Amino acid sequence: MMQIQVKIPAIAGTSYTVTIGTDLLGGIIEDVRQIYPRHRFFLITDANVLTAGLPGRLAADKSDELMSFIIEPAGEVSKHIATVTAICEIMDKNAFGRDTCILALGGGTVGDIAGFAASIFKRGVPVVQIPTTTVSQADSAVGGKTGVDSTISKNAFGTFWQPAAVFVDVSTLKTLDERQYRAGLVESVKHALIRDAKYFEYLEQNLDKILARDESILQKLAVYNCRIKAAVVEQDPKEANLRRILNYGHTIGHAVESASNFKLLHGESVAIGIVGAGIIEDKLGLVKDDRLGRIKAMLEKLGQPTSIPLYLAKQQVLTLISHDKKAAGNEIRFVLLDKIGQVHEEKGKWAVPVATELIGESIDLLFHE
Ligand SMILES: NC(=O)c1ccc[n+]([C@@H]2O[C@H](COP(=O)([O-])OP(=O)(O)OC[C@H]3O[C@@H](n4cnc5c(N)ncnc54)[C@H](O)[C@@H]3O)[C@@H](O)[C@H]2O)c1
Ligand SMILES: [Zn+2]
Repeated sequence: MMQIQVKIPAIAGTSYTVTIGTDLLGGIIEDVRQIYPRHRFFLITDANVLTAGLPGRLAADKSDELMSFIIEPAGEVSKHIATVTAICEIMDKNAFGRDTCILALGGGTVGDIAGFAASIFKRGVPVVQIPTTTVSQADSAVGGKTGVDSTISKNAFGTFWQPAAVFVDVSTLKTLDERQYRAGLVESVKHALIRDAKYFEYLEQNLDKILARDESILQKLAVYNCRIKAAVVEQDPKEANLRRILNYGHTIGHAVESASNFKLLHGESVAIGIVGAGIIEDKLGLVKDDRLGRIKAMLEKLGQPTSIPLYLAKQQVLTLISHDKKAAGNEIRFVLLDKIGQVHEEKGKWAVPVATELIGESIDLLFHE
């Protein structure tokens, strides 16, 4: 077992522990009771996580019988404000008060919904994040971004609400379906690319074991991921500048994800976006080695797409890119790399403007990579 401390200096007194290990679920409630001895626990999870038997492992002891909310159907379709309202109403009806502690057990959807509910219920109660997907263990459980989608756009409503604690149990990944498992690993590739060349090499050398879900390797990945995410979030919790580097590959990624009507998974879309960023870097003369070849080889080995599927329309992708939230004024900003492990900085900014024409040319190439 390994513990990482996250300190958010911008919010007074906010510090939490990320505990990483295998078969942790059964001990979590006891651990959290050390922090909140008199709080009432409320569990939020989803139908697939329930089927996978994870809530049962969390509350193995009968005395831990938990009141819970099961999000159904699981996934992005339920990530809207009505789910948050339903959760808060149920807690209120059952006389949960300011002494509530919410346990979020599941992927990024559960974590984002539960974190949002926690941040508004009775003006804010603690939430413990227990991520169970490759996306949420690498990315969403640490950092305090919560939210749900509107009918117009993703994560339209949300808050910054840091968790009280995070427990990454890599053994929960065993039941995740293969496509979700692989796509979620792209967030790990992203972390390596923006911050740590050694981590990238580690991924290259261990791809087979990672795909075989080797638990000791997965724990190492979790440590790398949480250290990188924590270091960035500690310096810039509200995404004024540095935190934007976590959006590497996401400008094109989000556009392709929406254009595909979510047929492409988030990680698959980010894989395409990473290659797209690489093409832009190349056009801007930032690439001096064969790094794009190495990156594409890794993404391909993970079974990820590296070009935009031909059924998507170029114009729609471009329109969506210019709607991206990083578009400020007339500028479309991209996070770009100087080299593997190092983000390109211009005038103190980590997301830099790229000319529309150059984006268009790069998207053309990205259809045929
Ligand atoms: N807050 C952040 O910083 C942040 C960062 C990245 C992504 N996100 C959000 O996360 C969401 C995507 O996360 P996700 O990919 O984890 O999605 P998800 O929560 O929808 O999980 C994917 C699928 O796997 C199932 N599942 C989860 N754990 C399982 C397990 N152990 N065994 C079997 N099935 C399991 C879920 O029920 C779901 O069907 C998006 O909404 C995205 O916006 C948030
Ligand atoms: Zn992402």
